Amino acid sequence: MKIAVFSNKPYTERSFRQANESFGHELVFFEERLNAETVSLAAGSGAVCVFVNDELNAEVIKALSELGVRLIALRCAGFNNVDLAAAEKWGLSVVRVPAYSPYAVAEHTVGLMLALNRQIYRAHMRVREGNFSLEGLLGFDLHGTTAGIVGTGKIGSVVARILNGFGCKLYAYDVQPNQECLELGVRYISMDEIYRLCRIITLHCPLTPQTYHLINAESIAKMQDGVMLINTSRGALVDTRAAIEGLKSGKIGYLGLDVYEEEADLFFEDLSNQIIQDDVFARLLMFPNVVVTGHQAFFTQNALTAIAETTLENVSAFERGECQNIVLCQKVVCRCKES
Ligand code: NAI
Repeated sequence: MKIAVFSNKPYTERSFRQANESFGHELVFFEERLNAETVSLAAGSGAVCVFVNDELNAEVIKALSELGVRLIALRCAGFNNVDLAAAEKWGLSVVRVPAYSPYAVAEHTVGLMLALNRQIYRAHMRVREGNFSLEGLLGFDLHGTTAGIVGTGKIGSVVARILNGFGCKLYAYDVQPNQECLELGVRYISMDEIYRLCRIITLHCPLTPQTYHLINAESIAKMQDGVMLINTSRGALVDTRAAIEGLKSGKIGYLGLDVYEEEADLFFEDLSNQIIQDDVFARLLMFPNVVVTGHQAFFTQNALTAIAETTLENVSAFERGECQNIVLCQKVVCRCKES
């Protein structure tokens, strides 16, 4: 099938071209993000391959349908950027990559915790300048520390295993407790108890209307003074303005973000020669106890290979009339089931 790959980067193209040697799809790569202005690039393609910040709103989906596109193949797990009601209305199926490497994201999450706790980024800059003072770099042992994992699916459960190795005391909140976590000794408690008990809180639930701004002024007020908050899931789980107030008051002692609610205008591009126009984001970067990475938690060789292979296999399965990794199926006769 001809697939229009949007938001292309050299690393995306390399992994997709390599994986496609076993699939034989016709791939066309576009650096452009998919939106109302760029949707015409999909003309002649049966599928579009999109990523986290492509805009699959009703207008774009209607245009895709009119161009003859039948399938939206997400090369990521989350699908919060797709208007599923519009896809249903305009007859487009949606597939995704539900799991590629939970280890990649979980390991980056714990990397943020360690970097923040031991201030490795600041220590590195100091030592480079010949400043060997330890003042201001005091950390705490992870061993024995209470950590709360919000969402114990594929990624959250790996985070639980890693933090268990550090000797953390583990708590979790999930609408569906995970058996593996229970066996590990993770205690499921309410969100209010997570806020009250946990020195580290790490978010691994999807972005849905229920979880939008889960972390807001009210929830931050319930947290321990000096809490460490980590978000490698989706930016809009956190009300950034409320987090900034929490940082200013000292309520939040450490903030680690791999995602940001307005990241679509910033992340994945080299803007180092431009003036950042987003004042909220710029304020975040001024805090010494904030580490932001640009949505790179997934970014390992293993994950890129798995993403490319699964996406291309999803398209092949769709061509064969089968459904796998389906978010929304539009076939009249279908044996689809989530795999
Ligand atoms: P998953 O579907 O395996 O797990 C999500 C868990 O969240 C499930 O156990 C589910 O029951 C739980 N959940 C759903 N609603 C909830 C709620 N209201 N409160 C608490 N828990 C709730 O997903 P996976 O693979 O673990 O990914 C988690 C998130 O990580 C994804 O939604 C995605 O947004 C993000 N992600 C970020 C990446 C990055 O590079 N930063 C890469 C991949 C995923």
